[in-house]
Amino acid sequence: MTLLEEWSDKTFSEARQQELQQFTRETGIRVSLLPSPDSARERLVLWRELLGTGASGPDVYGIDVIWPGMLSEHFIDLKPYFAHEVALQFPAIASGYIVDNKLVAMAYRADIGLLYYRTDLLREYGYSDPPRTWDELEIMAARIQAGERAKGKKQFWGFVWQGAADEGLTCDALEWQVAEGGGRIIEEDHTISVNNPQAIRAWQRAARWVGSISPPGVVAYREWDSLNVWVAGDAAFMRHWPSAYLNSQAAGSPIRNKFEVALLPGGKAGQVGTLGGWGLAVSRFSAHPREALELVRYLTRSDVQEKRSRVLSQPPTLSQLYLVPDILQPKSRIDLLSQAFRTGMVLRPSDVTGKKYQEVTDAYIQAVHSVLTGEKSAPEAAAALENELLRTTGFKKGPPQGKSARPE
Ligand code: GLC
Repeated sequence: MTLLEEWSDKTFSEARQQELQQFTRETGIRVSLLPSPDSARERLVLWRELLGTGASGPDVYGIDVIWPGMLSEHFIDLKPYFAHEVALQFPAIASGYIVDNKLVAMAYRADIGLLYYRTDLLREYGYSDPPRTWDELEIMAARIQAGERAKGKKQFWGFVWQGAADEGLTCDALEWQVAEGGGRIIEEDHTISVNNPQAIRAWQRAARWVGSISPPGVVAYREWDSLNVWVAGDAAFMRHWPSAYLNSQAAGSPIRNKFEVALLPGGKAGQVGTLGGWGLAVSRFSAHPREALELVRYLTRSDVQEKRSRVLSQPPTLSQLYLVPDILQPKSRIDLLSQAFRTGMVLRPSDVTGKKYQEVTDAYIQAVHSVLTGEKSAPEAAAALENELLRTTGFKKGPPQGKSARPE
């Protein structure tokens, strides 16, 4: 049987291989793990290719929380098999995988945008707390960067993030604009809200970061690029997912014990992180559906998730595991995550755009990226984006709304 999922680094795949070996010991079912591309866009292309042939390719697919609406028809409905288990998951995390009442995947990994910051540097430059607003971050980052450069660290930058024209940019830019009341591109009531002054200002501010507190190359950074700069000790702040903790705190990491994690900075409308994450889906074309279901059951099981959280520092998807105080180190991280998933979360508009999400996110990425690179002005890019979204979705225009965090 084969499993295709998003690929991270060696530590991750070794831990996954161990889980799979344990699964084989328990069930006698052998599983091979297929690697995947680094870029979120390329992953979707590969998944679509494999599913589109209709041949029995991989049996179990890891799918991004934004894909169920696009890929639903290729997977079996897991509801009859997991009705009990799904009810035990953190509601906000599980709900992303339900499309028209069909449970397309079981969540096994929850992600949310977070701020990583260097505790040693904040102390050195006289800051007792991480920034609460993006404006504060900008000031702190500039000051620490100037100080570190004056000491001779010419490669040092204030803030690294994901600016490449890829899905990571949708996540980051959404956080900037939602915090300022700029809405989430397309609102829950299917209105297109993206062309508004708050979103425009948030993009302009980020464009100002490029080449000042963030490297000029940040416009080509994916998750790994930002993580590499950060782990090397060359940045004061980083926006990343919870899993970045593992590399940052690894034995031999130059920043080990010199950093902490906080909610992302906010603005007038609050502090928000984009909800990310991965679920496991069973292919409709699988030649081994019974075994595939067993694998999904195993990989989402409470004890397996708990162990994974301890080994890989990954947030669990089951509510009860958020009550295990030492499941993540340091202990404060579990409270931080549970707070973020409860109150500080924004969903990408994949829930309202269904099959069209890829077109929507591509158009948004291009618009924001053109502002970051200085190719277009923000008002111009927002107006063009609005027109394009009106055309592709057939939805109407509307004002930006609240945070769109789903109530629990
Ligand atoms: C992480 C998130 C996923 C997101 C991707 C963007 O893997 O879990 O939801 O789409 O990053 O790069």
